Amino acid sequence: MAIVKVRNTGEVISGEENVKQFFDQFDVLYEHWDVEKLSEDLRGNCKINDSQKEEVLQVFDTDIRSLAERRGYKNWDVVVLNDQTPDLEAILKKFEKVHTHTEDEVRAITAGSGTFIIKGDEQTGYFDVDLTAGDVISVPENTPHFFTLSDERQVVAVRLFIDQTGWVAHPYEEVEQR
Ligand SMILES: [Fe+2]
Repeated sequence: MAIVKVRNTGEVISGEENVKQFFDQFDVLYEHWDVEKLSEDLRGNCKINDSQKEEVLQVFDTDIRSLAERRGYKNWDVVVLNDQTPDLEAILKKFEKVHTHTEDEVRAITAGSGTFIIKGDEQTGYFDVDLTAGDVISVPENTPHFFTLSDERQVVAVRLFIDQTGWVAHPYEEVEQR
């Protein structure tokens, strides 16, 4: 279940309803998928091959299509990051730069964990969203944010896109410290 840490105030928000309520003011979508649906060899497994990635998409097909229908996503895939990922450091460096997208960035964590850091308002500043398996989040379009792995440094996530070109990031520059 997602945990939110508000940087300016130090507030920690947990519990599905509290998290949802906090996200509502920033138009951040938050839902939950049942990862118990995954077969035993896939549950918690972040070292999966291409056919296992397909299996993940099959298992969550209904959830994916429900999201796509409601929010206009046209295509989707599975992204895997772990200690065997070539150039993991370089990939993370790229992700860890504050950026925006022209469409919302939706991720469903199906194994492992990760953190989205999202720019809120003047009162909150940036807030960290720690995500674990089953958490589904969408960062709204044009909202500055970045992503990083947690200490376990591995994740499996379903990504959904409206634009067929996939993940396109625009750097977000600012003077204030994040
Ligand atoms: Fe992003």
